[in-house]
Amino acid sequence: MASSCIVSTAPNATLQTAAPTNTLRGWLYFAQNLSKAKWQDNSSDSDILDAIAKGPGAMPGYADTLSATEQLALVKAVRDLRKP
Ligand code: HEM
Repeated sequence: MASSCIVSTAPNATLQTAAPTNTLRGWLYFAQNLSKAKWQDNSSDSDILDAIAKGPGAMPGYADTLSATEQLALVKAVRDLRKP
């Protein structure tokens, strides 16, 4: 999902300190920084699965395009974004 997913585009060291999200594109879309420990702590796996399936705000939903297994794999991928 590295190149097709807005939340996992390569981190940009400059933006990391300047903006709440870690990429300019994420910031432009009002996306969360999913690597933040605080966001990770406040989000349950079912919250994340819900976001992937339904697509909050400007985010597209993936309920019809990704299988249940793929959506669960993405929940794990989002968890793996966590930084200390
Ligand atoms: C398949 C890859 C993706 C994953 C795993 C993913 C995951 C997530 C998750 C877990 C959230 C919830 C954040 C929260 O609860 O605060 C979120 C929010 C968001 N995502 Fe994605 N996302 C993906 C693709 C995209 C794409 C392609 C876009 C835009 C084109 C996008 C735009 C957004 C935006 C704007 C939000 C914030 C929505 C709001 O609260 O208003 N995401 N994403």
